[in-house]
Amino acid sequence: MSKKNPPVIELRGLTKKYGLGDAEHNALDAIDLTIEKGEFITIMGPSGCGKTTLLNILGLLDRSDDGEYLLDGKSIENLSNTRHARIRSQQIGIVFQSFNLINRLNVIENVALPLTYKGIHRTKRLTMASEILKNFHLSEREYYMPWQLSGGQMQRVAIARALVNSPSIILADEPTGNLDSKSSHIVMQELSDIHKRGNTIVMVTHNPNLTTYASRVIHMLDGKIASDTKNPVTPEDPSAKKPLGSSKATKVESKKSATGRKKKQAKK
Ligand SMILES: Nc1ncnc2c1ncn2[C@@H]1O[C@H](COP(=O)(O)OP(=O)(O)OP(=O)(O)O)[C@@H](O)[C@H]1O
Ligand SMILES: [Mg+2]
Repeated sequence: MSKKNPPVIELRGLTKKYGLGDAEHNALDAIDLTIEKGEFITIMGPSGCGKTTLLNILGLLDRSDDGEYLLDGKSIENLSNTRHARIRSQQIGIVFQSFNLINRLNVIENVALPLTYKGIHRTKRLTMASEILKNFHLSEREYYMPWQLSGGQMQRVAIARALVNSPSIILADEPTGNLDSKSSHIVMQELSDIHKRGNTIVMVTHNPNLTTYASRVIHMLDGKIASDTKNPVTPEDPSAKKPLGSSKATKVESKKSATGRKKKQAKK
């Protein structure tokens, strides 16, 4: 292998506390994690184990209380919120667990929004938004308002918005949580394509079948990383292609996380 760049993301002893006094607890408890460029990581674990907290910190939407976060080898702890916002708009696409669409903007304007911060002209912004909406089969809904969409459509709009400015890091919090299997497939196909283009993806999911898209599966428990497994069958390794659900690592993961997941899946 040639000389390596620094990891895209490196966390050392990352800790996030919530509550005060007796109620204080570590939502993230001294997490050490290194993510290399081009990895596709899925994070699993029961409700409340800290997945969203971790993604929010990775996405520079929140700050840790202790520990270090290096992005492309540089510490981001001491940068201002404005600098964080700039890095985010240039480098990071976030798909939120709750879609966070802006209600007074229609679909195409919502999707075009991240491009505003890049100083792209309005007509060009709308063309780019329209282009990506096609990938998500939402062309006919461009001028709908968010409240006129189904939950699954809202989720797809939110994903299109996260991807419109071609971020190199995509953080997705249960991006298929509210989708039927056909829509899930569209979304996973799109994420898979983005991954193949060399981008880094960190995706939280409760669905063990989706770990098959990943090159690495992390299981969290009580604010800690309980297991961290490289997927033996990765999308970059077509020679090894076989039914991905049969991967050993996946099986171990799915057993461990069964309890937390059942609750979520029950609601479908
Ligand atoms: N703003 C907050 N104030 C206080 N506690 C919080 C806050 N946000 C999260 N927590 C707590 O931190 C812990 C981790 O929450 P987090 O949202 O990261 O869980 P999660 O793994 O994403 O769960 P889920 O699968 O249900 O989305 C939980 O115990 C939660 O109650
Ligand atoms: Mg969550």
